[in-house]
Amino acid sequence: MADSRTTSWTAAWELLLPAAAAPPRRRGRVLQSALREAVRSGRIAAGTRLPSSRELAADLGVSRGLVTDAYEQLTAEGYLSSSRGSGTWVSGAAQAAAVREHRRPVAGGAPGTGFLPGSPDLALFPRAAWSAAHRRVLARLAHSGLGYPDPRGLPELRTAVAGLLTRRRGVVADPECVVICSGVAQAMTMLGFTLAGLGHRAVAVEDPGSPEHTALLSATGLTAVPVPLDAEGVSPAALAASGARAAQLTPCHQFPSGIAYSARRRLELLEWARATGGLLVEDDYDGDFRYDRAPVGALQGLDPARVAYAGSVSKSLAPGLRLGWLVIPEQLVDLVVERKRTMDLGNPTLDQALLADFIERGDYDRQLRRCQRAYRERRDALVAALAEHFPGTEVTGIAAGLHVIARLPRRYGPQARFLERAARAGVALRPLADFAHRPDRTPGPTPAAHTAPGPTPAARDDGLARARDDGYVRLVMGYAHLSPARIAQAVALIADAGAPGLPATPR
Ligand SMILES: Cc1ncc(COP(=O)(O)O)c(C=O)c1O
Repeated sequence: MADSRTTSWTAAWELLLPAAAAPPRRRGRVLQSALREAVRSGRIAAGTRLPSSRELAADLGVSRGLVTDAYEQLTAEGYLSSSRGSGTWVSGAAQAAAVREHRRPVAGGAPGTGFLPGSPDLALFPRAAWSAAHRRVLARLAHSGLGYPDPRGLPELRTAVAGLLTRRRGVVADPECVVICSGVAQAMTMLGFTLAGLGHRAVAVEDPGSPEHTALLSATGLTAVPVPLDAEGVSPAALAASGARAAQLTPCHQFPSGIAYSARRRLELLEWARATGGLLVEDDYDGDFRYDRAPVGALQGLDPARVAYAGSVSKSLAPGLRLGWLVIPEQLVDLVVERKRTMDLGNPTLDQALLADFIERGDYDRQLRRCQRAYRERRDALVAALAEHFPGTEVTGIAAGLHVIARLPRRYGPQARFLERAARAGVALRPLADFAHRPDRTPGPTPAAHTAPGPTPAARDDGLARARDDGYVRLVMGYAHLSPARIAQAVALIADAGAPGLPATPR
């Protein structure tokens, strides 16, 4: 039976109208793909009888032969069925596939619909400079440069990245130890497979942490063991108890809590790695963005033999470029490069050459400065809007990155109801609890807190091992993709959605 996604045939045939408007040479192909898409998307339900080829041709104003060809092609592909005397109808097999396709969850949130963390402002992508780099690169690229690349990455990009990371992040980076890859995500996957190949069975991950990255590591066959954080970072005792000899960490700006690991904790973790022969995997996903003082240098710089360092252009340029890097301890280079080779034979040459050119000319640094200015302004707008509309809110993790943690006073809870109201007001929010590995804990140590002004500062949220549902609303709020005006408007919308039960917004 047709479900709510299904339109009647009368409405569905409008989907085929582009075929009538297409140039005669392409008309047949356009008709076939429009019909295929209408079936696949469920717009025409399984079992729906299609009009005769003569009728449809007349409706669309195309030749009957075109429709007959389309029916025959889609019947051969399994989207349609036909029999002499009964005509042509939509087959059930194609419909079942369509339903599965529709139910598949969509990864990530649509930027611009709320405060979902993870996205930079894609409108800040430097189109003009990127396209100038494209022209330059194509003009000088030898034909031989279009062959299969070195799986480690183009030498000029590895050299440019090594220089960039040394200069900006305090990484010890020999270009021979740099592997270019498709973002931090692929860096995690390559390392996961490499470690599994070396006999590792487990990898420790931060709790709270990034569920996506944990899933990537788990997919390599390792068991991801969540290790709790305290206010200084992952606790070495808990790490030792995990049984893992490798740990994935975000020491410069922990995701999502926003803390920077203390110097003492960094040294303790390196001690652990040396004593156990273990490996620390540093995810420096947004280390370039720090607003109130110089960026915290990478952990890798303290012991390049014990730390693998991963980063990408996902926050500085665009995640859609899928370009990143991994700086690996020398003893692992060959194994990781072999993984990269068997995964995809290397990243696309042109993209790599472009990024190399972009870094060498100083365009990358310019882009970072531009983003830094914009994001600081947006962070300030968010902090101000929360202070205005939700007084007493404790905002932490504001010193760096593209998101903050906001803990609203208890009077705004319970959290489930708060989130529901925000969603009804059209503002998507992500609670901190989404990033906890164990469902019985509400996560979150806190870095220096910024409390929205009020007569008395809100209590510090010391956050560890708290009972679930303690009445607070805790949010991970990404702000980089929203303009200051949109931030103010969205926070006001959430506040206005508050009645009844929420205190009125002071104006
Ligand atoms: C914790 C963390 N690491 C890394 C990344 C970036 O991953 P990638 O470089 O694969 O785009 C993200 C993206 O949101 C992230 O949240």
